[in-house]
Amino acid sequence: MKINFDKKDNDIIIWNNQIVMSRSEENYFSEIFKFLSSKYKFNSVLEIGYGLGISAKLIQNYLNPQHHTIVEISDEIFEDLENFSLSYSGIEPCLSDWLEYDYKTKFDLIFCDPFDYATPSLEMVEKKFQLIRYLLKENGLYCIPHFGDGEPKTLPFLQLRDNVLLEVEPYILWNGEVCNFARILTYTKY
Ligand SMILES: C[S@@+](CC[C@H](N)C(=O)[O-])C[C@H]1O[C@@H](n2cnc3c(N)ncnc32)[C@H](O)[C@@H]1O
Repeated sequence: MKINFDKKDNDIIIWNNQIVMSRSEENYFSEIFKFLSSKYKFNSVLEIGYGLGISAKLIQNYLNPQHHTIVEISDEIFEDLENFSLSYSGIEPCLSDWLEYDYKTKFDLIFCDPFDYATPSLEMVEKKFQLIRYLLKENGLYCIPHFGDGEPKTLPFLQLRDNVLLEVEPYILWNGEVCNFARILTYTKY
């Protein structure tokens, strides 16, 4: 899909005056994957949304999965993903809306970090969690970024497993606010 970004470089992606991703999240994301690597082993990882490739690189470096599928909707960002995939083995880059992709396998870990270019309908939210549940292996983990120190949400079809509040290096939120608290959250199937 062609998406017109206001700005896109190695450190920031801005669309419609909103920050899609910035490198300021790198310290927080490092903490997520350091934590996951200290507790779990994952053979197959699905990553939703490539962005600046920060989490993709951390997944490779900390988790080193045999299979790492990355789904990206933007043509322009997908080019970066394709280039990134050349430096590693086992990466499958997919140009698609992740909700529409024809997955051939299930995953030990799903790291879900898309950016909503349109407000999702209730129906889409339901479809999203049904698909996540379907795509997770029996003991698979669903991991999402959580910005700030607010309580984690209850998610349909999933139960909270890890919930760690962190003080991290300051990062910029989508609306330009700066925050230095975040959580590591993982969920499993019931
Ligand atoms: C917050 S960024 C991801 C940041 C990434 N985790 C990183 O570390 O750089 C969100 C990404 O999800 C992509 N995206 C948004 N909606 C999507 C969808 N429905 N399917 C696949 N990718 C999507 C965006 O184009 C963008 O590249």
